Amino acid sequence: MASARGEFSSRFGFLMAASGSAVGLGNIWGFPTNAASNGGAAFLFTYLILAFALAYPALMAELIIGRHARANAVTALRSISPGQKSRLLATTVGFVGILTVSFILSFYAIVSGWMIAFFFDPIARILGMDGLAQWLTEDAVLRNSLFVVLFMVFTMYIISAGVKDGIEKWASRLMPSLIVILALLILYVITLPGAGDGLRAYLVPDFSRIADPALLVDAMGQAFFSLSLGVGTMLVYGSYISKKENLPTIGSLVALLDVGIAVLAGMLILPAMYVALNNGVQIFDESGGLIAGPGLIVSVLPALFNTMGAVGVFVAFAFFALMTIASLTSSISMLEVPVAYGVEHHGLERRKAAIAIGSIVTLVSLVIVFNFDPLFDLVVTYTTEVSQPLLGFSFCIFVAWIWKRNDILEEIKQGCPEVESGLFWKIWPFYVKFICPVAILVVYFQ
Ligand code: PFF
Repeated sequence: MASARGEFSSRFGFLMAASGSAVGLGNIWGFPTNAASNGGAAFLFTYLILAFALAYPALMAELIIGRHARANAVTALRSISPGQKSRLLATTVGFVGILTVSFILSFYAIVSGWMIAFFFDPIARILGMDGLAQWLTEDAVLRNSLFVVLFMVFTMYIISAGVKDGIEKWASRLMPSLIVILALLILYVITLPGAGDGLRAYLVPDFSRIADPALLVDAMGQAFFSLSLGVGTMLVYGSYISKKENLPTIGSLVALLDVGIAVLAGMLILPAMYVALNNGVQIFDESGGLIAGPGLIVSVLPALFNTMGAVGVFVAFAFFALMTIASLTSSISMLEVPVAYGVEHHGLERRKAAIAIGSIVTLVSLVIVFNFDPLFDLVVTYTTEVSQPLLGFSFCIFVAWIWKRNDILEEIKQGCPEVESGLFWKIWPFYVKFICPVAILVVYFQ
């Protein structure tokens, strides 16, 4: 029976929701371009190792705390802290997590708004509304503001409906569609002239880069952002998992889905970029690197779709549908973190909490839209490069150094009674205690 605070009704529902949170713009946009500019398969190789050796243990830490406490991030961290000092630390980390994820959502919503605008562009063109199509694809404050609001309204709507009827229902619809669209796009793009060069750029390793600190930092940042770690998202989703579930198994399935979809996305984006090159589109910037920032999504790929004739309209439509779905399943997980806190800690009604907190985030997004140049990069850098790794570090400290080892074991045993004799329990406690915190700090100070 679902508990009063909501629970995922099935393993599939949780997997779609958690992988929906993990699979986002970071996978489809960030991962492939990071790989291409960091030694191709050498990056892929390092990423796979870091994802399973560091990000997976950190993901497990959040899932275990969440399911044990069955509460929002602040209450959950406090409940595993025995002393006054550790409880103070718990409150601080919980709050910083809630603030960080809200700021991540504020910039994520802007980029997601662009994705919706570009999604409507091919529809406008099919309908012969060329003026509208042009407006949709031109970077302007009005367009950006309207689409941020639209995107946030969708996000608030889903979160208002709750865990099972909102998050689970929508993720279970959207994630399978995302996988089908991604597969179809790969199958099409891979047949086009130039695609082979893209695959080579992506998959042929340049092992001279493997010890490059920049590669390590990028791969680690990518892995943490991609698994939505450090900000309480996975903790809160973990708090809605049934006590009958086997946590190590579902955690590894989420990591596999996330990594798998990132790797697949590389098989779409890199070939598409080289097909664009083949069609006369500029794909390198002045310094000779691949265009990876916003230019990739809002100019290189649309330019490619324009060179494809009538088919290009459908390819553009499918591609931006893919991006919009990926963003939405991530944004709902972000909004759920402060909403869960508002509902449980301040007794707010869920719908009111979703609308109130969602509106505040939207306002912050609008402030960024109106002051894009000074604010956007600043917010991205502080949240993802400073706050997120430090919070990830703190979660590891909580689970490995503050929480009692026996309580952790008891928690995992529910749904996985044989855990003590398995490989997971032999390795994981050591990892979160020593390897993860040290590695996060080393990479952080790089
Ligand atoms: N994992 C998402 C992505 O790869 O795009 C981003 C993200 C989602 C970050 C949720 C943080 C978060 F709490």
